[in-house]
Amino acid sequence: MNALLRKNRELSAILKVSQELTTSFDLEKNMLSAMQILGTHLEMQRGCVFLMDPDTHKLRIIAAQSLTRKEISRGTYQVGEGIVGRVLETGKPMFVPNIGNEPKFLNKTGSRPSKKGVSFFCSPISIDGKTIGVITVDRIFAEEDTTVDDDFRVLSIIASFIAQFVILWRNFKNTENEIGKLRSQLKEKFSLPNIIGESVELQRVLKSVIKVATTDTTVLLLGESGTGKELVAQTLHYQSLRTRERFVAVNLAALPENLIEAELFGVEKGAYTGATEKRIGRFEMAQEGTLFLDEIGELPLNLQVKLLRVLQERSFEKIGSTSSVHVDVRVVAATNRNLFEEVKKGNFREDLYWRLNVVPIMLPPLRIRSGDIPLLADYYLNKFNQLYHRQVKISARSLNLLEDYTWPGNVREFANTIERLVIMLESNVVKPEDLPFNLNPENQDAPVIYPGSLADKTNLKQEIEGIEKDQVIRALKDNNYIQNRASKALGITPRQFGYRLKKYGINFKRL
Ligand SMILES: Nc1ncnc2c1ncn2[C@@H]1O[C@H](COP(=O)(O)OP(=O)(O)O)[C@@H](O)[C@H]1O
Ligand SMILES: [Mg+2]
Repeated sequence: MNALLRKNRELSAILKVSQELTTSFDLEKNMLSAMQILGTHLEMQRGCVFLMDPDTHKLRIIAAQSLTRKEISRGTYQVGEGIVGRVLETGKPMFVPNIGNEPKFLNKTGSRPSKKGVSFFCSPISIDGKTIGVITVDRIFAEEDTTVDDDFRVLSIIASFIAQFVILWRNFKNTENEIGKLRSQLKEKFSLPNIIGESVELQRVLKSVIKVATTDTTVLLLGESGTGKELVAQTLHYQSLRTRERFVAVNLAALPENLIEAELFGVEKGAYTGATEKRIGRFEMAQEGTLFLDEIGELPLNLQVKLLRVLQERSFEKIGSTSSVHVDVRVVAATNRNLFEEVKKGNFREDLYWRLNVVPIMLPPLRIRSGDIPLLADYYLNKFNQLYHRQVKISARSLNLLEDYTWPGNVREFANTIERLVIMLESNVVKPEDLPFNLNPENQDAPVIYPGSLADKTNLKQEIEGIEKDQVIRALKDNNYIQNRASKALGITPRQFGYRLKKYGINFKRL
């Protein structure tokens, strides 16, 4: 073969290998293709790729042309063992002109019947100065027109392609493993054992969740705020077959009305002035996953039609587009309103109501399942004790008070209350007097003020009272402790002012 022809073949082999490495992300398949190309283009036979296993620190055959599976499984080497091991250790290529004469040649795979006249090339696969593997090929020199150097040059180019690919592939695998781990954490977090309650009311909910989780049925979650609608929606997703894709939540009450359509369905580029980029809507984001439409009662009437169509036909048009997008999305909707009342009032379309109402699940308010409170207390004490490194327990009397309270904010309020206690408590046992006064009839009048940052809606009363107390004190100070003037400054009568002094236990003399 003349030298020019040989060079041409080398180039096309290099080109083919580089193309092959981008056609798929399958390590073994790609390595095998690369070795086959060396065989067909450059008479390099029995190509083998060895990679160092980062965990076991042993060399493992990843791909081998003309080796059976059994032979492949036999081919593991210690670093420094045999020629392959030596090349890995030194990072330098090795060449054996006639493998029959070389004692270092271990022939572990047992695949060479006759060793006569076969030369052996072994080239390191290195990246960043680190050798991560080895390529070996056999070569029977029939012509005199190529040199060992030529062959090594080609092999080292191929080896550097392989090195790049392996690094990419390993990063990809690591990321994939990470994602897998996170996914199983989510699956555990949003599982039935984490929906707390043994009451018949809650057990009824769990039964429905088990029944519908693995189906694609639309589910409508009904219940007051804080009863666990979103928790159930997430559980439905993470216990379904859709967990590989996303759980996307949209709170329709939180979006300005004129943005809801774009948010849900997306915008085609150029749909209106300013639409310079195509925008993906939440429906598309949830492709093959679950879309949680929270506060569905807030959906404007004109969009109710569009949603109905998506639910029926699984397709819609982006704003400014005429072609339809097909989606495979499981829809879970939630509301704390009485949707049927809204239908009667004409605020909610009846056809959409029935379409959403295929499987309604009613989340019971906490006050009708107060028997679950000891369990919930255990669960949240445990959780927050861990989070804040504390060992707070609750006295039996305090637990009774928690059971008696009506919990207008439901489990959300309950969880917040326990969290606050775990953070604020000085001792390790929650006693009745430690409870917020809205819970405890005995200390209704005590000026217990909690920090504003921890306050939520349910503690609005406390917060307002805290502000009021501060204002009363400031007015007194600003007016030289003259009650009449201070009351005037606040715009209330002296009698009202006196009442507030008593209510907040403000001691004149101490100020
Ligand atoms: N049965 C339950 N067991 C444990 N935690 C719950 C339960 N129900 C609700 N929660 C918790 O209460 C909080 C409020 O629940 P969420 O699902 O957001 O309520 P909603 O969507 O109905 O307002 C969340 O932190 C949730 O994890
Ligand atoms: Mg909610």
